[in-house]
Amino acid sequence: MEIAPSILTADFTRLGEVMEESTAAGISWIHLDIMDGNWVINKTITFGPAVIRSIRNRVGKDVFLDCHLMITNAEQTWQQYADAGVDLVIAHIEAVDDFAALANAMHEYGIQAGMVFNPATPVEEVIPHLSYLDLVLVMSVVPGKGGQSFMPEVESKIRALRAAIDEQKSTGGRATKIMIDGGIKAHNIAMVKEWGVEVAVVGSGLINDKASIVENLTEIHAALG
Ligand code: DX5
Ligand code: ZN
Repeated sequence: MEIAPSILTADFTRLGEVMEESTAAGISWIHLDIMDGNWVINKTITFGPAVIRSIRNRVGKDVFLDCHLMITNAEQTWQQYADAGVDLVIAHIEAVDDFAALANAMHEYGIQAGMVFNPATPVEEVIPHLSYLDLVLVMSVVPGKGGQSFMPEVESKIRALRAAIDEQKSTGGRATKIMIDGGIKAHNIAMVKEWGVEVAVVGSGLINDKASIVENLTEIHAALG
C-alpha cells in the first residue's frame, strides 16, 4: 500500500522541511490538493503551480507528485500543473465536460491522467472511463478541507472498481490504480486495503500536532501489518 501525504494540515512556512521529513521516512508519493476558491463548497483556496514547482525542486525527480484539482477550469489550466512538475493530474468527473479528450491530451503531453469522484457521484458514472485512466480516486469525504470523518459507505464503490479493474487487467487492459482520499488513519487503512485500494492519501493522520511524520507513519505501517 502506497501512502501519499496531503500537505493541507502542514505549516506552509515549513513545507521544505515537511517534504524532507516525509521522504526521509520513506514516502515516495505526495498528493497536492488544489482548490481555487470556487469549486469546493466551502470556497477554500489552497495553493497553485508556483508552490508545486518549489516542491518539485525540493524533492528532486524521484518522488511521484500528483495534483488533485478541485477547480472549475481543469480543462483549461491542467497544463500549468504539468509544467510545474507533477507526474499525474487528477480531475473531478463533476467538473469536466469531455474527460476522454482531457486524458488523451494529458497522455500526449507526457503525464498520467486520473479521475476523481465525489461521495454523491455514483460509481457507475466512472466505470465506463477506466480503460484510459491511470488512476481513479474515490473521495471518502466531501472535498474542501483536511481532518474530516471517513465515509464508510464508499466500500461498495471501491469493491465495484476493484472488480472492474481486475477484469480489465485480465483481458490485457490498463492496470488503473485505485486511490482513496479523506479521513484515512491508522485505524481504517487496513480495511480499505482489503477492499482493494492501492494508494491512500493521508493528511491529518500524518501531519498533525500529536506526533512527528515518522511516528505517525510507523503507526500506519504497524496497522497494515
Ligand atoms: C480534501 C482533500 C484531501 C484531504 C485529506 O478536500 O482532497 O486530500 O486534505 O486530508 P485528511 O486525511 O485529513 O482527510
Ligand atoms: Zn485530495
